[in-house]
Amino acid sequence: MHKPFEVTKNIYNVGVNDRTKHLFEGLWALPYGVSYNSYLVVDERIALIDTVDVCYSDVYFRKITSVLGEKPIDYLIVNHMEPDHSGAIEWLVTKYPNIQIVGNNRTAEMLKGYYNVSDNVKIIKDGDEVSLGTQTLQFHLTPMVHWPETMMTYISQSKTLFSGDAFGTFGTLDGGVTDAQLCVTRYWDEMTRYYAAIVGKFGSPVQSALKKLAGVEINTICSTHGPVWTEQENIEKVVGIYDKLSRYEADNGLIIAYGSMYGNTEQLAEIIAAEAASLGVKNIILHNVSKSELSEILRDIFKYKGLIIGSPTYNNKLYPGVENLVTALQNRGLKNRFFGYFGSFSWAGAAVKQLKEFSETMNFDIVGDPVEMKQSPNDEVAEKARELAKAMSEKLC
Ligand code: FEO
Repeated sequence: MHKPFEVTKNIYNVGVNDRTKHLFEGLWALPYGVSYNSYLVVDERIALIDTVDVCYSDVYFRKITSVLGEKPIDYLIVNHMEPDHSGAIEWLVTKYPNIQIVGNNRTAEMLKGYYNVSDNVKIIKDGDEVSLGTQTLQFHLTPMVHWPETMMTYISQSKTLFSGDAFGTFGTLDGGVTDAQLCVTRYWDEMTRYYAAIVGKFGSPVQSALKKLAGVEINTICSTHGPVWTEQENIEKVVGIYDKLSRYEADNGLIIAYGSMYGNTEQLAEIIAAEAASLGVKNIILHNVSKSELSEILRDIFKYKGLIIGSPTYNNKLYPGVENLVTALQNRGLKNRFFGYFGSFSWAGAAVKQLKEFSETMNFDIVGDPVEMKQSPNDEVAEKARELAKAMSEKLC
């Protein structure tokens, strides 16, 4: 076993890479896999910060013992209880029976519920500290980023922030661990996709956490997923991404997300996209809801200001993939978007009516007139689609 990477002096990443799972949380595609990062802080006393998915317990413990040998771990700091990070806790307390588990009230309740662990649990409050000798762990509660017990741990001596899922990305750590070692290009979109899928509902708690962190000097961000951020330019970028996404702010661009059974509704999407492009709209992306994975669509909707949704009528309802999408947008409280919609039917229309009802539940700026098509796009319908594109382009250009 190679020795785990020393992120900064006496702090090792003992996390693991998952290139096996197809779906994170059973929901979200993992084209580049995912890492579960866990950090060992070695000092006069030793602390482990978060664990890994239970499936990787063996390789995880080999990594820990390759740093520590037979030395015990004094503390397990639990920043987050979701099982991709708490899965190895039962294993850990068996191997290190004297380990003290550090978390907040909500952590304790979940430790008992998930793993029947209640002994040796130290409950901390916001701002509490635990000294390891030369380094001190300070705890910052950040509830609902994105679970109620979520917190962050900060070491002021090295200005290292262990941020839990915050600032995390999908994508494994291939060879390197830090941004200085890795080609980070692929992680930016994976960060936004992670945010949109997992954290997107919790914009307001993320804003509260960012306010709490303002003024905290950070040299290194150790998230539970993706690269360790060490370069100041990247640290500012990841914090900026979180700030922007959690305020639901977006760049100029247009997402057209549609369902289509036989290509007729898709033709309307194409007409709108072509007209918008001819009028100068940049960053136009079409997503067929039956082909694009939901987190890809959410990622792009979180990135861009313009959104047009189209749906056939199916069993007197929205097309199922569109229904799934609008529910996901409602769940995430998406706002600050220019929104237009169109729909189709073969003998009785329902999709446009239901998209109207959806739009009324959202804090959107409704753009143009909805377009409703019976069966296939004739000249009149195509003209209405171009008018919708024109109204959207006036907002975006
Ligand atoms: Fe990576 Fe919320 O678990």
